[in-house]
Amino acid sequence: PEQLLQEHFDATIARDQRIEPRDWMPDGYRRTLVRQIAQHAHSEIIGMQPEGEWITRAPSLRRKAILFAKVQDEAGHGLYLYSAAETLGADRADLTERLIEGRQKYSSIFNYPTPTFADVGVIGWFVDGAAICNQVPLCRSSYGPYARAMVRICKEESFHQRQGYELLLTMMRGTEAQRDMVQDSVNRWWWPSLMMFGPPDGDSPNSAASMAWKIKRHTNDELRQRFVDMTVPQAEKLGVTLPDPELRWNAERGHHDFGTPDWSELKRVIGGDGPCNAERMERRRSAHEDGAWVREAATAHAAKQARRARA
Ligand code: ACO
Repeated sequence: PEQLLQEHFDATIARDQRIEPRDWMPDGYRRTLVRQIAQHAHSEIIGMQPEGEWITRAPSLRRKAILFAKVQDEAGHGLYLYSAAETLGADRADLTERLIEGRQKYSSIFNYPTPTFADVGVIGWFVDGAAICNQVPLCRSSYGPYARAMVRICKEESFHQRQGYELLLTMMRGTEAQRDMVQDSVNRWWWPSLMMFGPPDGDSPNSAASMAWKIKRHTNDELRQRFVDMTVPQAEKLGVTLPDPELRWNAERGHHDFGTPDWSELKRVIGGDGPCNAERMERRRSAHEDGAWVREAATAHAAKQARRARA
């Protein structure tokens, strides 16, 4: 029977149909999905920190309201993703424990600092732009609950990307000092944003299986290239320079050539030694501990409701 189940699973994937929680799936498929979805959820929650720092310092009521809405959306994305992981039998509290104990990862990109308000704009433009490149194909991922969560997340990411770009257009129309602030932020975020897509294909141990299972639809390098091609004309329109002397259009390939990111930096940041890793984890840990009474109260309330329903 195991063989029949495997054949049915393979045929579903081959027909580009969805695997649903009730369906049989190979252990490796389930494990890979829990790993990727949990990391993705953790990234959304930790990702609230770098921009959240600017909520109290946003330069106008309008910018504050936009930033509030955006950071709140990220909390929502984390919650849909934890729910998707739960359909695979994972337990949300256990996933959070694993993150806090350093046994699960979150995206490298959220370990960089946000010293200026231009960083809010550049995160929207680059980081949310990269998230869109990576996540639009995940709307066609083979696992139903993940793919469906991605549809709504991508719509919201696209609003986030536009708010960032619009903020930068406004700053570029401002003073010389504001334009310099934007360029400085672009210089700091460009390479880390390229690293978000993960290691180069030759050094990406999970890609082959994830592509065969149609969890991932494109390789890390394919998506990185797509991001570069999408971003170059936007940089021109904005009037900033991307900090890569090797960046140029290659008519033969129909793509931009670009330099090599510092992969040793990505390894360091993933390994816990980026500029803000300790700070991000400490904040996440203390938020979790400070929230213990809310979880206890919610559990007690649910138990009381259940007792009343039975009475
Ligand atoms: N930051 C942290 N860890 C990373 C990163 C990164 N930018 N890129 C790769 N890694 C990790 C992988 O998780 C893997 O470690 P693991 O086996 O312990 O899980 C290891 O490095 C090797 O990488 P790959 O074999 O290429 O891993 P994978 O096939 O999972 O690809 C990728 C990585 C592209 C990030 C994939 O998991 C993915 O598409 N995830 C969904 C999107 C996502 O998580 N986005 C979060 C940031 S976007 C946002 O929230 C705004």
